[in-house]
Amino acid sequence: MNAFALPYEDLSRSNAFLWEEWERVFRQMLQKGQFVLGEALADFEQAFARYCGAKWAIGVNSGLDALTLALKVLNLPPQSEVLLPAHTFIATVFSVLQAGLKPVLVEPEADTMLVSRRTLEAAQTPQTRAIVIVHLYGQMPEMPSIMALARQKGWWVLEDAAQAHGARYLGQSAGSWGDLAAFSFYPAKNLGALGDGGGITTQSAEWAEKLQKARNYGSLVKYYHDEPGLNSRLDALQAAFLSVKLPYLDQINAHKHHLAQLYHSHLREDFILPAVLPHSQPVYHIFSIRHPAREALREYLLRQGIQTAIHYPLPVFRQKALAGRWNPAHYPLTAQICQTQLSLPIAYFHTEDDILRVIEIMNRF
Ligand SMILES: Cc1ncc(COP(=O)(O)O)c(C=O)c1O
Repeated sequence: MNAFALPYEDLSRSNAFLWEEWERVFRQMLQKGQFVLGEALADFEQAFARYCGAKWAIGVNSGLDALTLALKVLNLPPQSEVLLPAHTFIATVFSVLQAGLKPVLVEPEADTMLVSRRTLEAAQTPQTRAIVIVHLYGQMPEMPSIMALARQKGWWVLEDAAQAHGARYLGQSAGSWGDLAAFSFYPAKNLGALGDGGGITTQSAEWAEKLQKARNYGSLVKYYHDEPGLNSRLDALQAAFLSVKLPYLDQINAHKHHLAQLYHSHLREDFILPAVLPHSQPVYHIFSIRHPAREALREYLLRQGIQTAIHYPLPVFRQKALAGRWNPAHYPLTAQICQTQLSLPIAYFHTEDDILRVIEIMNRF
Protein backbone atom coordinates (compact mmCIF):
# COMPACT_ATOMS: atom_id res chain seq x y z
CA MET A 1 0.00 0.00 0.00
CA ASN A 2 1.42 3.30 -1.09
CA ALA A 3 0.71 6.31 1.11
CA PHE A 4 2.18 8.93 -1.25
CA ALA A 5 -0.08 9.75 -4.21
CA LEU A 6 0.70 12.67 -6.45
CA PRO A 7 -1.51 13.32 -9.49
CA TYR A 8 0.20 15.00 -12.45
CA GLU A 9 -2.50 17.68 -12.34
CA ASP A 10 -5.71 18.20 -10.41
CA LEU A 11 -7.48 21.30 -11.67
CA SER A 12 -9.92 21.44 -8.77
CA ARG A 13 -6.92 21.92 -6.47
CA SER A 14 -4.83 24.12 -8.76
CA ASN A 15 -7.83 26.44 -9.24
CA ALA A 16 -9.14 26.28 -5.65
CA PHE A 17 -7.75 29.72 -4.74
CA LEU A 18 -10.00 31.27 -7.43
CA TRP A 19 -13.30 29.58 -6.63
CA GLU A 20 -14.79 32.39 -4.57
CA GLU A 21 -13.87 35.10 -7.05
CA TRP A 22 -15.13 32.98 -9.94
CA GLU A 23 -18.41 32.30 -8.18
CA ARG A 24 -18.90 36.02 -7.67
CA VAL A 25 -18.11 36.79 -11.31
CA PHE A 26 -20.39 33.98 -12.46
CA ARG A 27 -23.29 35.59 -10.53
CA GLN A 28 -22.44 38.97 -12.06
CA MET A 29 -22.49 37.42 -15.52
CA LEU A 30 -25.86 35.76 -14.80
CA GLN A 31 -27.22 39.13 -13.75
CA LYS A 32 -25.86 40.88 -16.85
CA GLY A 33 -27.15 38.17 -19.18
CA GLN A 34 -24.62 38.81 -21.97
CA PHE A 35 -22.84 35.60 -22.92
CA VAL A 36 -21.45 36.28 -26.40
CA LEU A 37 -19.01 39.10 -27.29
CA GLY A 38 -19.71 42.26 -25.24
CA GLU A 39 -17.91 43.95 -22.39
CA ALA A 40 -16.51 40.90 -20.59
CA LEU A 41 -14.71 39.76 -23.74
CA ALA A 42 -13.47 43.25 -24.65
CA ASP A 43 -12.15 43.77 -21.10
CA PHE A 44 -10.22 40.52 -21.12
CA GLU A 45 -8.83 41.19 -24.59
CA GLN A 46 -7.54 44.57 -23.50
CA ALA A 47 -5.99 43.23 -20.31
CA PHE A 48 -4.37 40.28 -22.06
CA ALA A 49 -2.94 42.45 -24.87
CA ARG A 50 -1.45 44.76 -22.24
CA TYR A 51 -0.03 41.80 -20.31
CA CYS A 52 1.71 40.50 -23.46
CA GLY A 53 2.94 43.89 -24.63
CA ALA A 54 0.79 43.70 -27.76
CA LYS A 55 -1.60 46.33 -29.08
CA TRP A 56 -4.42 43.89 -29.79
CA ALA A 57 -5.77 40.61 -28.51
CA ILE A 58 -8.65 38.77 -30.16
CA GLY A 59 -10.39 36.02 -28.22
CA VAL A 60 -11.31 32.89 -30.17
CA ASN A 61 -12.62 29.48 -29.19
CA SER A 62 -9.36 27.48 -29.04
CA GLY A 63 -5.63 27.56 -29.56
CA LEU A 64 -6.11 25.61 -32.78
CA ASP A 65 -8.45 28.27 -34.19
CA ALA A 66 -6.08 31.00 -32.98
CA LEU A 67 -3.26 29.46 -35.02
CA THR A 68 -5.46 28.78 -38.06
CA LEU A 69 -7.02 32.25 -38.17
CA ALA A 70 -3.64 33.91 -37.63
CA LEU A 71 -2.20 32.00 -40.59
CA LYS A 72 -5.22 32.79 -42.76
CA VAL A 73 -4.97 36.52 -42.10
CA LEU A 74 -1.50 36.49 -43.69
CA ASN A 75 -3.29 35.91 -47.00
CA LEU A 76 -0.50 33.80 -48.48
CA PRO A 77 -0.89 32.05 -51.85
CA PRO A 78 -2.32 28.51 -51.41
CA GLN A 79 0.31 25.85 -50.58
CA SER A 80 2.94 28.42 -49.55
CA GLU A 81 5.47 26.69 -47.31
CA VAL A 82 5.45 27.25 -43.58
CA LEU A 83 8.33 26.06 -41.39
CA LEU A 84 7.33 24.65 -38.01
CA PRO A 85 8.94 22.37 -35.43
CA ALA A 86 8.73 18.61 -36.02
CA HIS A 87 8.49 18.29 -32.25
CA THR A 88 5.21 19.96 -31.31
CA PHE A 89 1.58 19.29 -30.45
CA ILE A 90 -0.48 18.24 -33.47
CA ALA A 91 -2.47 21.52 -33.48
CA THR A 92 0.52 23.40 -34.91
CA VAL A 93 0.54 21.14 -37.98
CA PHE A 94 -3.25 21.00 -38.37
CA SER A 95 -3.50 24.79 -38.36
CA VAL A 96 -1.13 25.08 -41.32
CA LEU A 97 -3.16 22.49 -43.25
CA GLN A 98 -6.45 24.16 -42.34
CA ALA A 99 -5.10 27.48 -43.61
CA GLY A 100 -4.45 25.80 -46.98
CA LEU A 101 -0.66 26.01 -46.58
CA LYS A 102 2.13 23.42 -46.71
CA PRO A 103 3.77 22.43 -43.41
CA VAL A 104 7.55 21.85 -43.56
CA LEU A 105 8.95 20.20 -40.43
CA VAL A 106 12.10 21.45 -38.72
CA GLU A 107 14.15 19.31 -36.33
CA PRO A 108 14.76 20.97 -32.94
CA GLU A 109 18.04 21.51 -31.11
CA ALA A 110 18.87 18.52 -28.91
CA ASP A 111 19.35 20.45 -25.66
CA THR A 112 16.33 22.80 -25.65
CA MET A 113 14.01 20.67 -27.82
CA LEU A 114 13.22 23.98 -29.60
CA VAL A 115 14.02 25.13 -33.11
CA SER A 116 16.74 27.75 -33.62
CA ARG A 117 18.01 30.01 -36.37
CA ARG A 118 20.39 27.20 -37.31
CA THR A 119 17.73 24.51 -37.66
CA LEU A 120 15.36 26.89 -39.49
CA GLU A 121 18.08 27.80 -41.98
CA ALA A 122 18.80 24.13 -42.58
CA ALA A 123 15.13 23.39 -43.37
CA GLN A 124 14.25 26.46 -45.44
CA THR A 125 13.36 26.24 -49.13
CA PRO A 126 12.86 28.96 -51.77
CA GLN A 127 9.10 28.51 -51.17
CA THR A 128 9.24 29.33 -47.43
CA ARG A 129 6.88 32.22 -46.67
CA ALA A 130 6.24 31.99 -42.94
CA ILE A 131 7.48 30.27 -39.78
CA VAL A 132 5.63 29.07 -36.69
CA ILE A 133 7.79 29.30 -33.59
CA VAL A 134 6.45 27.06 -30.81
CA HIS A 135 7.43 28.07 -27.29
CA LEU A 136 7.29 24.42 -26.31
CA TYR A 137 6.95 23.50 -22.64
CA GLY A 138 6.87 27.25 -21.83
CA GLN A 139 10.29 28.31 -23.14
CA MET A 140 11.00 30.76 -25.95
CA PRO A 141 13.89 30.05 -28.31
CA GLU A 142 16.48 32.69 -29.25
CA MET A 143 13.99 35.17 -30.67
CA PRO A 144 16.33 38.00 -31.79
CA SER A 145 18.32 35.78 -34.15
CA ILE A 146 15.15 34.08 -35.42
CA MET A 147 13.40 37.42 -36.03
CA ALA A 148 16.50 38.77 -37.79
CA LEU A 149 16.55 35.73 -40.11
CA ALA A 150 12.81 36.10 -40.81
CA ARG A 151 13.14 39.80 -41.60
CA GLN A 152 16.12 39.15 -43.85
CA LYS A 153 14.18 36.45 -45.75
CA GLY A 154 10.82 38.24 -45.75
CA TRP A 155 9.06 35.49 -43.77
CA TRP A 156 6.07 36.15 -41.53
CA VAL A 157 6.50 34.96 -37.96
CA LEU A 158 3.67 33.38 -35.96
CA GLU A 159 4.39 32.48 -32.33
CA ASP A 160 2.61 29.38 -31.05
CA ALA A 161 2.50 30.57 -27.45
CA ALA A 162 -0.15 28.04 -26.37
CA GLN A 163 2.18 26.81 -23.60
CA ALA A 164 3.93 30.08 -22.82
CA HIS A 165 1.69 32.76 -21.25
CA GLY A 166 4.10 35.15 -19.55
CA ALA A 167 7.31 33.57 -20.90
CA ARG A 168 9.96 36.12 -21.78
CA TYR A 169 13.09 36.45 -23.86
CA LEU A 170 15.41 39.35 -22.97
CA GLY A 171 12.56 40.56 -20.76
CA GLN A 172 10.11 40.80 -23.66
CA SER A 173 6.93 38.70 -23.46
CA ALA A 174 5.71 35.88 -25.62
CA GLY A 175 3.00 37.30 -27.84
CA SER A 176 4.90 40.47 -28.67
CA TRP A 177 7.81 39.12 -30.75
CA GLY A 178 6.20 37.73 -33.88
CA ASP A 179 3.89 39.35 -36.39
CA LEU A 180 1.12 37.42 -34.69
CA ALA A 181 0.92 35.04 -31.75
CA ALA A 182 -1.58 32.33 -30.85
CA PHE A 183 -2.49 31.32 -27.29
CA SER A 184 -4.59 28.52 -25.86
CA PHE A 185 -6.64 28.92 -22.70
CA TYR A 186 -7.29 25.17 -22.43
CA PRO A 187 -7.96 24.50 -18.72
CA ALA A 188 -4.57 22.90 -17.95
CA LYS A 189 -2.53 25.79 -19.39
CA ASN A 190 -0.82 28.26 -17.03
CA LEU A 191 -3.59 30.71 -17.97
CA GLY A 192 -6.38 28.17 -18.30
CA ALA A 193 -10.11 28.83 -18.55
CA LEU A 194 -12.98 26.58 -17.41
CA GLY A 195 -13.38 25.14 -20.87
CA ASP A 196 -11.87 25.72 -24.30
CA GLY A 197 -10.54 29.10 -25.31
CA GLY A 198 -7.84 30.77 -27.35
CA GLY A 199 -6.52 34.16 -28.35
CA ILE A 200 -4.40 35.94 -30.94
CA THR A 201 -2.16 38.92 -30.23
CA THR A 202 -0.78 41.34 -32.79
CA GLN A 203 0.50 44.88 -33.13
CA SER A 204 -1.47 45.40 -36.36
CA ALA A 205 -4.84 47.20 -36.14
CA GLU A 206 -5.68 46.03 -39.67
CA TRP A 207 -5.15 42.35 -38.81
CA ALA A 208 -6.96 42.79 -35.50
CA GLU A 209 -10.07 44.00 -37.31
CA LYS A 210 -9.85 41.18 -39.86
CA LEU A 211 -9.56 38.65 -37.03
CA GLN A 212 -12.49 40.19 -35.14
CA LYS A 213 -14.53 39.60 -38.27
CA ALA A 214 -13.12 36.17 -39.07
CA ARG A 215 -14.15 34.78 -35.67
CA ASN A 216 -17.66 36.27 -35.94
CA TYR A 217 -19.28 35.33 -39.29
CA GLY A 218 -17.24 38.00 -41.09
CA SER A 219 -19.14 40.65 -39.18
CA LEU A 220 -18.41 43.63 -36.93
CA VAL A 221 -21.97 44.96 -37.01
CA LYS A 222 -24.68 42.42 -36.22
CA TYR A 223 -26.37 41.00 -39.36
CA TYR A 224 -23.94 42.79 -41.72
CA HIS A 225 -21.33 40.40 -43.13
CA ASP A 226 -18.32 41.73 -45.04
CA GLU A 227 -16.88 38.28 -45.81
CA PRO A 228 -17.49 34.62 -45.03
CA GLY A 229 -16.36 33.79 -41.49
CA LEU A 230 -16.47 31.31 -38.64
CA ASN A 231 -18.21 31.24 -35.32
CA SER A 232 -15.06 31.03 -33.19
CA ARG A 233 -15.55 33.51 -30.37
CA LEU A 234 -14.08 33.21 -26.91
CA ASP A 235 -17.16 32.82 -24.65
CA ALA A 236 -17.92 35.87 -22.54
CA LEU A 237 -18.08 33.61 -19.46
CA GLN A 238 -14.63 32.22 -20.16
CA ALA A 239 -13.31 35.73 -20.78
CA ALA A 240 -14.72 36.81 -17.41
CA PHE A 241 -13.10 33.84 -15.65
CA LEU A 242 -9.81 34.57 -17.42
CA SER A 243 -9.94 38.23 -16.34
CA VAL A 244 -10.08 36.98 -12.76
CA LYS A 245 -7.11 34.65 -13.27
CA LEU A 246 -4.85 36.94 -15.30
CA PRO A 247 -3.71 39.09 -12.31
CA TYR A 248 -2.48 35.84 -10.69
CA LEU A 249 -0.61 34.56 -13.75
CA ASP A 250 2.78 35.90 -12.60
CA GLN A 251 2.23 34.23 -9.23
CA ILE A 252 1.34 30.92 -10.91
CA ASN A 253 4.39 31.17 -13.16
CA ALA A 254 6.65 32.07 -10.21
CA HIS A 255 5.48 29.04 -8.24
CA LYS A 256 6.11 26.70 -11.17
CA HIS A 257 9.50 28.35 -11.70
CA HIS A 258 10.38 27.68 -8.07
CA LEU A 259 9.40 24.00 -8.42
CA ALA A 260 11.47 23.78 -11.62
CA GLN A 261 14.50 25.18 -9.78
CA LEU A 262 14.20 22.34 -7.25
CA TYR A 263 14.37 19.81 -10.09
CA HIS A 264 17.27 21.69 -11.68
CA SER A 265 19.21 21.83 -8.39
CA HIS A 266 18.62 18.37 -6.98
CA LEU A 267 17.92 15.80 -9.68
CA ARG A 268 20.73 13.35 -10.35
CA GLU A 269 22.85 14.00 -13.43
CA ASP A 270 21.69 11.09 -15.53
CA PHE A 271 18.26 12.68 -15.96
CA ILE A 272 18.59 14.92 -19.00
CA LEU A 273 17.11 18.23 -17.87
CA PRO A 274 15.72 20.90 -20.20
CA ALA A 275 18.43 23.39 -21.16
CA VAL A 276 17.46 26.98 -20.41
CA LEU A 277 18.81 29.58 -22.83
CA PRO A 278 20.76 32.44 -21.22
CA HIS A 279 18.20 35.20 -21.94
CA SER A 280 15.09 33.05 -21.75
CA GLN A 281 12.64 33.11 -18.85
CA PRO A 282 10.51 29.98 -19.25
CA VAL A 283 7.19 29.56 -17.46
CA TYR A 284 7.42 25.76 -17.12
CA HIS A 285 3.98 24.87 -18.39
CA ILE A 286 5.64 21.45 -18.56
CA PHE A 287 8.86 20.29 -16.88
CA SER A 288 10.25 18.07 -19.60
CA ILE A 289 13.15 15.71 -18.94
CA ARG A 290 14.55 12.83 -20.94
CA HIS A 291 15.81 9.42 -19.90
CA PRO A 292 16.81 6.45 -22.08
CA ALA A 293 14.78 4.10 -19.83
CA ARG A 294 11.72 6.34 -19.89
CA GLU A 295 9.13 3.54 -19.69
CA ALA A 296 10.85 1.85 -16.73
CA LEU A 297 11.21 5.20 -14.98
CA ARG A 298 7.57 6.06 -15.58
CA GLU A 299 6.39 2.71 -14.21
CA TYR A 300 8.73 2.98 -11.22
CA LEU A 301 7.35 6.43 -10.38
CA LEU A 302 3.78 5.23 -10.77
CA ARG A 303 4.46 2.37 -8.35
CA GLN A 304 5.67 5.02 -5.91
CA GLY A 305 2.40 6.95 -6.39
CA ILE A 306 3.80 9.60 -8.76
CA GLN A 307 1.91 10.34 -11.95
CA THR A 308 3.83 11.70 -14.93
CA ALA A 309 2.90 12.51 -18.54
CA ILE A 310 4.49 12.26 -21.99
CA HIS A 311 4.55 15.19 -24.40
CA TYR A 312 4.30 13.60 -26.91
CA PRO A 313 4.30 9.80 -27.30
CA LEU A 314 3.92 9.76 -31.10
CA PRO A 315 5.61 12.36 -33.34
CA VAL A 316 3.39 14.29 -35.74
CA PHE A 317 5.01 12.61 -38.78
CA ARG A 318 3.91 9.20 -37.45
CA GLN A 319 0.30 10.19 -36.76
CA LYS A 320 -2.31 8.32 -38.78
CA ALA A 321 -3.98 11.63 -39.67
CA LEU A 322 -0.82 12.76 -41.46
CA ALA A 323 0.37 9.42 -42.85
CA GLY A 324 2.58 9.54 -45.92
CA ARG A 325 3.39 13.24 -45.77
CA TRP A 326 6.91 12.93 -44.43
CA ASN A 327 9.70 10.39 -44.27
CA PRO A 328 10.15 9.65 -40.53
CA ALA A 329 13.85 8.89 -41.19
CA HIS A 330 14.38 12.63 -41.75
CA TYR A 331 13.50 13.45 -38.13
CA PRO A 332 15.60 11.16 -35.94
CA LEU A 333 15.98 13.65 -33.09
CA THR A 334 12.26 14.29 -32.77
CA ALA A 335 11.66 10.53 -32.85
CA GLN A 336 14.23 10.06 -30.11
CA ILE A 337 12.71 12.83 -27.96
CA CYS A 338 9.29 11.19 -28.23
CA GLN A 339 10.79 7.90 -27.03
CA THR A 340 12.68 9.35 -24.06
CA GLN A 341 10.69 12.41 -22.92
CA LEU A 342 8.92 12.49 -19.54
CA SER A 343 6.93 15.36 -18.00
CA LEU A 344 7.36 15.61 -14.23
CA PRO A 345 4.75 16.94 -11.79
CA ILE A 346 4.80 20.76 -11.75
CA ALA A 347 1.19 21.84 -11.19
CA TYR A 348 0.21 24.96 -9.29
CA PHE A 349 -1.16 22.85 -6.41
CA HIS A 350 2.11 20.95 -5.97
CA THR A 351 4.13 22.03 -2.96
CA GLU A 352 7.87 22.25 -2.44
CA ASP A 353 7.61 19.13 -0.25
CA ASP A 354 5.78 17.24 -3.01
CA ILE A 355 8.54 18.00 -5.49
CA LEU A 356 11.37 17.24 -3.03
CA ARG A 357 9.70 13.88 -2.47
CA VAL A 358 9.54 13.25 -6.23
CA ILE A 359 13.22 14.16 -6.51
CA GLU A 360 14.21 11.86 -3.65
CA ILE A 361 12.29 8.96 -5.21
CA MET A 362 13.71 9.68 -8.68
CA ASN A 363 17.26 9.82 -7.40
CA ARG A 364 16.78 6.26 -6.07
CA PHE A 365 15.77 4.97 -9.53
C1 LIG B 1 1.88 23.91 -28.62
C2 LIG B 1 0.38 23.93 -28.71
N1 LIG B 1 -0.20 24.48 -29.80
C3 LIG B 1 -1.53 24.53 -29.91
C4 LIG B 1 -2.37 24.01 -28.96
C5 LIG B 1 -3.83 24.01 -29.22
O1 LIG B 1 -4.60 24.63 -28.26
P1 LIG B 1 -6.12 24.17 -28.02
O2 LIG B 1 -6.08 22.88 -27.28
O3 LIG B 1 -6.69 25.28 -27.20
O4 LIG B 1 -6.77 24.06 -29.35
C6 LIG B 1 -1.80 23.45 -27.80
C7 LIG B 1 -2.60 22.96 -26.68
O5 LIG B 1 -3.42 22.16 -26.61
C8 LIG B 1 -0.40 23.37 -27.70
O6 LIG B 1 0.16 22.81 -26.63
